[in-house]
Amino acid sequence: MKFILSLLLCIAVASVMQGKPKEHGPRVETLLAAMTLEEKIAQMTQVDYTAIQNNADDVIKYSLGSILWGGSSEIKDITAPGWAAVYDSLQRLTEKTRLKVPMLFGIDAVHGHNNVNGAVIFPHNIGLGATRNAKLVGRVARATAEEVRGTGIHWTFAPCVAVARNERWGRTYESYGEDPALVAELGAAYVKAVQGTKLSDKTSILASVKHFMADGGTTNGVDQGNTECDEATLRKIFMPGYVAAIKAGARNIMVSYNSWNGVKMHGNKYLMTDVLKKELGFTGFLVSDWAAIDQIDKDYKTAIEQSINGGLDMVMIPNGPGTHNNYVEFMTILGALVKENKVPMSRIDDAVRRIVSVKYDMDLFGNPYTDAKLTAQVGSQAHREVARDAVRQSLVLLKNEGNVLPLSKKAKAIHVAGRGADNIGMQCGGWTISWQGAMGNYPDGGTSILQAIRKTVSKGTKVTTSADGSGAEAGDIGIVVIGEEPYAEMKGDREDLTLSKDDAAVVATMKAKGIPVVVVLLSGRPLIIDPALQASTAFIAAWLPGTEGQGVADVLFGDYKVSGKLPHSWARTMKQIPINIGDKPYDPLFPYGFGLTYKK
Ligand code: BGC
Ligand code: BGC
Repeated sequence: MKFILSLLLCIAVASVMQGKPKEHGPRVETLLAAMTLEEKIAQMTQVDYTAIQNNADDVIKYSLGSILWGGSSEIKDITAPGWAAVYDSLQRLTEKTRLKVPMLFGIDAVHGHNNVNGAVIFPHNIGLGATRNAKLVGRVARATAEEVRGTGIHWTFAPCVAVARNERWGRTYESYGEDPALVAELGAAYVKAVQGTKLSDKTSILASVKHFMADGGTTNGVDQGNTECDEATLRKIFMPGYVAAIKAGARNIMVSYNSWNGVKMHGNKYLMTDVLKKELGFTGFLVSDWAAIDQIDKDYKTAIEQSINGGLDMVMIPNGPGTHNNYVEFMTILGALVKENKVPMSRIDDAVRRIVSVKYDMDLFGNPYTDAKLTAQVGSQAHREVARDAVRQSLVLLKNEGNVLPLSKKAKAIHVAGRGADNIGMQCGGWTISWQGAMGNYPDGGTSILQAIRKTVSKGTKVTTSADGSGAEAGDIGIVVIGEEPYAEMKGDREDLTLSKDDAAVVATMKAKGIPVVVVLLSGRPLIIDPALQASTAFIAAWLPGTEGQGVADVLFGDYKVSGKLPHSWARTMKQIPINIGDKPYDPLFPYGFGLTYKK
């Protein structure tokens, strides 16, 4: 009896490990049996939109499996209806393929649907980490999912469950924080909420948990670098996010550019197959990062062989320099590898089974097109309110001399200075409209901090502005909004995180007027803030709040009692970085979890 039970258990476990969902198993197997090798490989191929835009017939010719929009692969009309139209027209092409398998469409909706003009932009993950509020993260994820589905798209390359351990890393803000438990809790909440009660629901989207694994642990915080640690440390710090996400129902994980002790993740069979799929029982599929397999080996064929045999299921293929058809090259080489018995057919079948199962679970076959009712909700007031709430809960108060905050809405005169004061682009940071983001005003919708201040104060309050603070007068209350200019991966790594001289000068100029100076710092990570901190009367870390600047004014004027807690240890000097909770010795400027509240 015992033997039969354990045999049954083995069979059950084996079928789960092959990614066979219970409900759609037979349909998946029927489809798989009908597919040619070429059609199977096409399912494993994800093509950048910019590679396909001028030869969309390739969707039909090759029965492609998936399309992505990367950070800078834009379409012409980036309004929600514009995105929906392109989505629908590409998806419609699959009706002309032999087996009519719908394509999966992925995009980096990493803080709201951030490639869409007029979409609500939420705080980047570092700010959500400061809220310590998993329910709130769930509401943010829900609103994001609705906006993404409003453009037909149904897969976001989020959440990023990186545990950022060195603030030099330019992707620190994509991480919820330095503590693995916080990352695991909020990442799981995000997965649950974007995927909804069921993946097949009209407003559910597929999450991509990224980047597997240890992207935030590289030596010196170098993007795509090498994480050097033993396996126990790897599991303790960088793996909890994946364990929690899988428990929460994650069906897709993106593999990371970085290496672990010199071995590129995309070629690491032990981690991708033995740990993730076998040990953790991950039933979904693994997608590569953008052109990442190219880094495993100079020889593309070897790179493909290693990554697919290692357990990678879908490959994200960019628009190669001077060519539109890298994906054809990829498919041809993978086909040859199978024919040469270098990649076993069972590995191909396993990959396709995993991908197609997710497509069935998402009801892509039954419901592939955009719901116009959802399109109309992109940028809705209801979503803006969620974002505003997220902003006010994300602010961390570091200093409040003489309880200058909250300010009175009836103050006689307020002078607002600094390059971030009226700058929605700077509020949003990277991954906003463009890959790296940009200074300046967001094309459509949103409220700058200055606009929000003006809306909040009483009619009698005089609000003046100057970029450098020189316009402040005795009797004013000073507010200075400064920080980092937008950046994203690759370009955001910094050896020196000292607040810029110009920004520090604005604070000094205002202080010299003998007025109280409230600093609002917009940044993707803790910066080295002395002497500006010393010169300030109050200091708020606002991270990258996104389009809803009203949330900042809510905190400044006491409509919300500040509550954020630091998701990172805040260093005094660059020499102290990396500094993380649990280190010995540990003497940061502000410890992990620090955050003042209002007395009144
Ligand atoms: C990034 C990923 C992103 C992908 C697609 C990569 O370079 O590392 O986070 O999802 O591009 O844009
Ligand atoms: C793409 C991004 C990608 C990056 C990485 C950009 O051109 O648009 O999505 O992450 O290159 O190399």
